[in-house]
Amino acid sequence: MAPATEGRITSYVILVAVIAAIGGLLFGYDTGVISGAILFIKQQFGMPSGQEEFVTSAVLLGAVLGALLGGVLAPRIGRKWSIIVGAVLFLVGTAAAAFAPNVPILIFGRIVTGMGIGLASFVVPMYISEMAPARYRGQMTSLNQLAIVVGILLAYLIDYVFSKGSDWRWMFAVGLIPAAALGIGMLFMPLSPRWLISKGRVPEAKKVLEKTRGTSDVQPEIEHTQEELRVMSSGGYGALLLPLLRLPLIIGIGLAILQQVTGINTVIYYAPTIFEMSGLGSAGTSIAATAGVGIVNFIGTIVAIFLVDRSGRRPLLTVSLAGMSAALLLLAAAFGFRGMFAAGSNMLGILTAAGLMIYVFAFAIGLGPVFWVLISEIYPLNVRGQAMSMATVANWAANWLISVTFLTLVNVLGQAGTFLLYAVISVFAIWFVRRLVPETKGKTLEQVQAIFASREHVAPPQASTKAHA
Ligand code: BGC
Repeated sequence: MAPATEGRITSYVILVAVIAAIGGLLFGYDTGVISGAILFIKQQFGMPSGQEEFVTSAVLLGAVLGALLGGVLAPRIGRKWSIIVGAVLFLVGTAAAAFAPNVPILIFGRIVTGMGIGLASFVVPMYISEMAPARYRGQMTSLNQLAIVVGILLAYLIDYVFSKGSDWRWMFAVGLIPAAALGIGMLFMPLSPRWLISKGRVPEAKKVLEKTRGTSDVQPEIEHTQEELRVMSSGGYGALLLPLLRLPLIIGIGLAILQQVTGINTVIYYAPTIFEMSGLGSAGTSIAATAGVGIVNFIGTIVAIFLVDRSGRRPLLTVSLAGMSAALLLLAAAFGFRGMFAAGSNMLGILTAAGLMIYVFAFAIGLGPVFWVLISEIYPLNVRGQAMSMATVANWAANWLISVTFLTLVNVLGQAGTFLLYAVISVFAIWFVRRLVPETKGKTLEQVQAIFASREHVAPPQASTKAHA
């Protein structure tokens, strides 16, 4: 039985989640802002195209480093102070990029910003997940994804506003505001009660829980967490090799890679290019299309927030991946059979728009938020920081790989072939989810551990489907 407090939500705990989610906003803003800024940076510094790609992808390299750093910091100094370190990285990196007198400093700034992104990308959902009562954990952790999507939209908007005066420095500099808000806001937020318990600081954890749950009856939740620590008493990177962690690591790293290699960021960042390929490519339609992708992403994420604690993680992931596969097949077919459309018709453009919107919506209702929710809940407390760091490193490395290979893939396989490849990977991902991912809806973080411990999940597929339904 879950402790009663795991069903209580207070406005204070919502405030804590919202402040932490500014980290998600920065993740979205700082990954998105470069698409507009790069056009003017290129002009100002007269960059060759190799250097341009490096400036664009520097943030992803930084994110891999930041995700590694988070794995060391989150278990030691705790989630709250790790997020504050992330805010400092955002501030330093953004200031360096905004005031960069030359390309090396610009690249340095983008790498440091990327470190903030990589660190915040998993420590924020981890912190929210550890603060949240089990019944609302999915929704509250998904707030981070909503913030990412808002950040991306905001970046498009700010890029648009400052593009009139070619003010690329301002495009970056605006990011200083949420970075300062995150750093200052987090100073007033509590330490994660679960981290405190793992450090034996139970009286402090009790105070935090009393405040976040709005009741003094928090002893059962504390004992529940202490039980989890007994299930797995060793911690650190060495413990990642224990058999108990094999499956959760396969799930986390597997989903991390699948979240990227099914192509989301090619759509988010190359939407205008894809539209151009389809013949719908005037500047106006490109901007509208890009904004449209952002808005659909936002609406889909709201739907996910509504459903994630009701229908659960597994159904959302399955429907999401099925929708993504169907949309990718539609895109592949549209590009593959383009020769059959009447000359002068804009059928390809219309099908492309429809395909991209369905694809982004399908991603947003499942694979986008649920990946981050799941990796926040499938690892035992003693190794949560290290294990989430590994999954997050895999996510950013795969993101980088897809970003640097997309245009080459299109050259080698053609547009239809590229979309078909992503579709095949999405179908594989459905199998992966149905076979391996357990349902964690409504369970306490400690009960999720019990699922893995009892090896319920490795039962034959039919039995496990029933068990998780
Ligand atoms: C992914 C990002 C992606 C974003 C888009 C996140 O969950 O990790 O790579 O850009 O969603 O909404």
